[in-house]
Amino acid sequence: MRDYHIPVMLKQCINFIAPKPGGIYVDATIGGGGHSLGLLESCPDIHLIGFDQDSEALLEAHKTLFPYQDRVELIQANFSRMRTELAFRQIKTVSGILFDLGVSSHQLETPERGFSFDLDSPLDMRMDQSSDLTAEIVLNELSQKALTRIFYDYGEELNASRIAGKIVKIREEQPFKTTGDLVKVIESVVGKGTKASLKTKARIFQALRIYVNQELEILEQALKDAINILEPGGRIVVLSYHSLEDRIVKNVFRSAAEGEEQTSEASFLNSTKKRKLQLLTRKPLQADAEEINNNPHSRSVKLRAAEKI
Ligand SMILES: C[S@@+](CC[C@H](N)C(=O)[O-])C[C@H]1O[C@@H](n2cnc3c(N)ncnc32)[C@H](O)[C@@H]1O
Repeated sequence: MRDYHIPVMLKQCINFIAPKPGGIYVDATIGGGGHSLGLLESCPDIHLIGFDQDSEALLEAHKTLFPYQDRVELIQANFSRMRTELAFRQIKTVSGILFDLGVSSHQLETPERGFSFDLDSPLDMRMDQSSDLTAEIVLNELSQKALTRIFYDYGEELNASRIAGKIVKIREEQPFKTTGDLVKVIESVVGKGTKASLKTKARIFQALRIYVNQELEILEQALKDAINILEPGGRIVVLSYHSLEDRIVKNVFRSAAEGEEQTSEASFLNSTKKRKLQLLTRKPLQADAEEINNNPHSRSVKLRAAEKI
């Protein structure tokens, strides 16, 4: 499991979720099952439901969690379907939910998946291998304007329009096939071997990955659903890895903590605010230097946790 993906801020996640015997817990992004294993080891008498849209991740999680197999159910689905999948199993509330967003080290480091700009591989980037949209289709078929938007909105890349322009020009001669083709274009715009060009490559790859997997579109509603599914006293923990994700988590948590306006039936003048969450982290927590040293994947993590009121 460790070779597949080292779970980030594991101790803190377990402490915040604080599993209790008999509770039902959801790992919305089970990956290799590292966090789930930690939860089960800290309190074996729980029931754990794990979601992942990647079939390889579920196979790995199955191996990792084998000793606890009678307490674990794995579901291959996007976490945007969490509410439906739980309702289908007659589960109305759960005691804790963990989201560990983004891609696993295994996904990043597997050449055929096309997530990494360090490896020359097919332009895929799908977390769910059964979905139709790949990075290759995006690069070869979207307009220059649409590509610029993707690079700017999802990568916050200032050279978005120049890079999109170059892509559109080059693909007229030769369609994009591999991550290496894309890297060449990025380097032709921002140069090679500098810190700045490395950052641009990371931002463009991040942007494409977010678009291909529609990561941000589904996050807000999935978090709202998760908060609604939690029982009173239940905990939600979210690990995010870039500012766009963290902003969504922060805003959803904040509005649930401040409460949404509810007008009472007795008098439409009397409006009350119904608070759903108590924040457990005012500011997001980050990994310490030792963890970052042992696991560079934890460098950009932000952990936010909250309790259902
Ligand atoms: C950072 S990894 C999780 C690693 C895991 N916590 C562990 O300890 O091994 C994120 C996982 O979530 C999955 N994932 C990301 N977004 C998803 C979504 N919207 N629905 C379902 N799975 C998702 C990815 O396929 C990946 O396996």
